[in-house]
Amino acid sequence: MNDRELLNRAREAAGNAYVPYSHFPVGAALECEDGTIFTGCNVENAAYGDCICAERTAVVKAVSEGYTRFRRIAVWGEGKNYCMPCGSCRQVLAEFSPGMEVLCAKAGGSYVSYPLSRLMPYTFNF
Ligand code: THU
Repeated sequence: MNDRELLNRAREAAGNAYVPYSHFPVGAALECEDGTIFTGCNVENAAYGDCICAERTAVVKAVSEGYTRFRRIAVWGEGKNYCMPCGSCRQVLAEFSPGMEVLCAKAGGSYVSYPLSRLMPYTFNF
């Protein structure tokens, strides 16, 4: 699957976002090392601290199905800036695959791509 196809999967996933508070749908498509794809969307809550981002939704779906080694994640959001993963999502991704690639889209569909190790150097671990 090429970058654009993975981004399209993320865009589709954003269609399921539950965002009555921010009105900012985000979708993620997480590619495992064997090519399996897990998607996720942001799911908000009236208790704002209980909101979960699209990226972590996808990671939790994957890990709970026994997949822990990831190659890429595409993140789709239609803001004017590239939809970069938050610090919590970077930490959670790095727990499993610090060498993975992160694709981040913005309105219009253009995207940037970074190694996670550049977005999240010196992660906490013990
Ligand atoms: N959000 C994500 O799902 N992923 C990101 O990369 C950035 C932010 C969500 C959290 C919240 O539901 C909404 O976008 C606004 O912050």
